[in-house]
Formats: sequence, C-alpha cells, structure tokens
Amino acid sequence: MHDDIQEILISEEKLQEKIRDIGEHVTQKYEGKFPLVIGVLKGALPFMADVTRQISTHVEIDFMDVSSYGKSTVSSGEVKIIKDLDTTVEGRDVIILEDIIDSGLTLNYLVNLLKHRGANSLKIITLLDKPEGRKVELVPDLAGFTVPDEFVVGYGLDFAEKYRNLPYIGILKPEVYKGS
Ligand code: XMP
Ligand code: MG
Repeated sequence: MHDDIQEILISEEKLQEKIRDIGEHVTQKYEGKFPLVIGVLKGALPFMADVTRQISTHVEIDFMDVSSYGKSTVSSGEVKIIKDLDTTVEGRDVIILEDIIDSGLTLNYLVNLLKHRGANSLKIITLLDKPEGRKVELVPDLAGFTVPDEFVVGYGLDFAEKYRNLPYIGILKPEVYKGS
C-alpha cells in the first residue's frame, strides 16, 4: 500500500469483479445496438478502459473533459468543457461512464447538455457513488460501489493530479491534503 493511503476501501480484485458484472450488464442491455460510450476525463479513464473490454457488443467510445476540482477537494459547482466530443450524439444511445458522483453537479450539467443535443437514450454508469455529497438530485442508472463521504483516490481518482495510477480505491491520510 502507498505511504499516503490510510486505508484501502476497494481492492483491485473487488474492482475488477464489479467491472466484469457491469460489462455483462451493458452487453445484455445493448445487444445488437451500437451505443456511444462517453468517458469523462481524466478520472474515468481506467474504468473506461477496463469496462469496455468486458463488453462484447459493438460500442463506439469518445471522451469529454470537463473542469474538476483542481487542487481543492470541494466542488465549485462550475462546469466548463475543456474537451468536447468528436462524435454527434443525435439519435444515439449514450452511456456516460464516470469515476464518481459526489455533488452531482458535473453529471447534471452533462446529462442536460447531451439531452439537448438529441441523444435517443442516456444512461449513467458510475464506478463510485457518494450519495451524501449530493447538491442536486441525480441517481445513476448503475453504480459499482457506494462510498462514504470521504475523499477517495486511486483508479483514476486524484488528489492534485496524484494517485490516479493506484490500482485500488483508497482513503488518503488527512495529513496529506491538510498539508497542501
Ligand atoms: P461532482 O461533485 O460534480 O463530482 O459530482 C464530479 C467529479 O469530482 C471529482 N471528485 C472526486 N475526486 N476523490 C476524487 O479524487 C473524491 O472523493 C471525489 N469526489 C468528487 C471527480 O473527478 C468527479 O468526477
Ligand atoms: Mg471525474
């Protein structure tokens, strides 16, 4: 375990087991369709890479990058598009893949945007759900794990751009973020 991690919340094995289930679920639901799977950068990158390889029907993949917390651990509520999609969503069956839903502000914005652009259907799949953090009503269609209201890192999730490369989800030692 990394020195800055207080506790491993979800092990690599547990993550991969859940990802296989999610992949099977998507395969069943979208058999014969060609959904557009949108990964929200940068946090959803490992989830996107792993889950899409567990889907055995055709999928198109694309990415969006929206502004996140930066160095702060509290959401500003402001959402800015840093990188937009390459694809048009009109008439498409869209699946948004997220690393974590906390306040719900980011996804709320994205959902409204993609609906406005004419998606035929829209499903939200998040690896982690932190329901205690919600500021807007937003319920994912599928959530891998519910996490407590603590700042978690690893498997795509960062603190000041660090720890994204950890293969598990962990809770950071408070002295790590209090000292910055
Ligand atoms: P909201 O609050 O808009 O959050 O639902 C969306 C984005 O905020 C980041 N986020 C976190 N990142 N540990 C992190 O490393 C956390 O506990 C955490 N909570 C929210 C994340 O990028 C998410 O997509
Ligand atoms: Mg994110």
